[in-house]
Amino acid sequence: MIQQHPHQVRKNKTVQKGEWKIHNPSGSKRVIVTKELPGVRWLEILTGADCMVEIGTSTRILKTDDIQSFIGSHCDGVIGQLTENWGEKLLATLKNAHGKVYSNNAVGFNNVDVHAATGLNIPVGNTPGVLTETTAEMAVALTFAAARRVSESERFMRAGRFEGWLPNLFVGELLWRKTLGVIGIGRIGQAYARMMVEGHKMNLLYYDPYPNKALEEYITAYGEFLKSRGEQPVSCRHVTHIEELLEEAHCVSIHTALDQATHHLINAERLALMKNNAVLVNTSRGPVIDEAALVEHCRNHSNFRVGLDVFEEEPRLKSGLIDLDNAVLVPHIGSATMWTRQGMAILAASNLTAMLNGYPVWQCLDMLPFFSDDPPKAAPSIVNAKELGLPMHSCESYGNP
Ligand code: DGY
Repeated sequence: MIQQHPHQVRKNKTVQKGEWKIHNPSGSKRVIVTKELPGVRWLEILTGADCMVEIGTSTRILKTDDIQSFIGSHCDGVIGQLTENWGEKLLATLKNAHGKVYSNNAVGFNNVDVHAATGLNIPVGNTPGVLTETTAEMAVALTFAAARRVSESERFMRAGRFEGWLPNLFVGELLWRKTLGVIGIGRIGQAYARMMVEGHKMNLLYYDPYPNKALEEYITAYGEFLKSRGEQPVSCRHVTHIEELLEEAHCVSIHTALDQATHHLINAERLALMKNNAVLVNTSRGPVIDEAALVEHCRNHSNFRVGLDVFEEEPRLKSGLIDLDNAVLVPHIGSATMWTRQGMAILAASNLTAMLNGYPVWQCLDMLPFFSDDPPKAAPSIVNAKELGLPMHSCESYGNP
């Protein structure tokens, strides 16, 4: 569990103003956090840096106008959510209010116009490094929930329809030793691939613009280890054509970022290449799949199964998706473990205080130092740091260049 220091937060005054809660009203800098975040450490970081922190308490998704009117004429920085449109309009409002930094409370930042932010000289923070295993575990959960028809059979149980064991009741797919396809082999894709290869002895095909030699070597060495124990080895192969992966894999999991190149990467034509009884999982961003085409495909292929954490027009689902028995649907909870959500909040708050204090930007992959009692004087992750020419924090003392 991430360290909390409740006494420090309690001594700061809190005032309620409509849907907004204000902490440390005498702080010299005004910071807005558009939603309540888990834990208290993030708030200590902000109040400890002399910020007055105004937190949106509504669970409703805030519209651009709501946020604009709350930013008002003076706001030093904002922690926002992936559900908000941080395009030119909001960023310009922040700039006009003398804003110096924006941080997404997320690792993904497709909701932020980073190009516009750079033009306005606003650093954009995100929260990498603390979602990896948590999101990979959710992808594993969805994989098996879909392959073994968990949601469908639970609905059956709850409807009181279970009358006893039957040889044909909810027969699903065994994935052990079959072929796994991973699209996007960044941190989360790689963690998921290892969980499935090591745990379920699957052979990996991965599609990514960049080959991951370290992962290939790891899996080859793991295969050698299995051989030395008299077991069948596992394999790993980088494919340059996504079609090859879709045709061969029994299970495909998507872990790519959303951009112009990956929008509707999985469309009707590509779904048609997949095995009739394949499993498709998405914990990245909804628009990577053409959701209307997916509904149609699932309707026509009852043994094809999907596990979705993300949706094309969140929170709206494309017509027909909700009625599909062969779809497992969860509400964008891939990163929802307490450790990760507290960690994201701490990294977002640290991005703000570091930029307000003129600290450099962290370059290491390891984010754990930010959870120690003596965190680095640095911003954990600023996605446009290079473009803005921000100074970088050396990693030498952390042994992680
Ligand atoms: C992120 O951080 O981008 C995730 O989607 C949140 O779960």
